[in-house]
Amino acid sequence: MADPSSGLRASVRAFIALPLPDEVRDVLIEVRNRLEAESERNAVRWVGPDNLHLTLKFLGATPEERLPAIAATLETAASSVRPPSLRLGPLGAFPSPNRPRVFWAGLEGDVQAIGSFYAELEQGLAKLDIPPDARPFSPHITLGRAREGAPPPALQRLGVLLPELQPPALVFNVREVVLFGSILRPGGPLYTRLAVSALGGDH
Ligand code: 2AM
Repeated sequence: MADPSSGLRASVRAFIALPLPDEVRDVLIEVRNRLEAESERNAVRWVGPDNLHLTLKFLGATPEERLPAIAATLETAASSVRPPSLRLGPLGAFPSPNRPRVFWAGLEGDVQAIGSFYAELEQGLAKLDIPPDARPFSPHITLGRAREGAPPPALQRLGVLLPELQPPALVFNVREVVLFGSILRPGGPLYTRLAVSALGGDH
């Protein structure tokens, strides 16, 4: 909340993501732990179980009064998408396993449905003057992010391990999409659900 006397409007750091079932997060945390066990201390900021999700769109600082229109766009886009059936895929890293900064788990299965949903969401958000992402959408679940100043060889050693740490090909459905608020804290971000829409509508 902003101080009304300051003349600043309240804004929320927001993003849109697909939450993951508990059993998927459990499996991902097991894989993440194996990677973490091989990691040099403080090289990577690992993502906790509550913060594992598939990000569709990062909105950044968003004025509070825009949230209802964003939630309505989410609802419209979500109602027309069939809940995708997904499988955890191989691990990978951005920008590449040789130069890893972001460690992630990939997805297989109905990934195309997620791409179509993302495109529809972007179209709806464009009507609210929210610009589309410059980079192509690349669905992934972030497991950890390199810390500023982490030694590249330590990160590269983790990159080499990625092909060996294939998560079990667990099949799961994603049934809802969430507009999250994110509060940055020293111990890691706190994500809160601002709005939730069922994929395929409420039926
Ligand atoms: P990621 O999982 O693909 O890394 C909440 O912070 C989510 O928004 C994160 O999971 C992250 O997606 C994404 N995100 C955070 N900061 C971002 C930024 N500056 N640009 C794009 N996406 C960002």
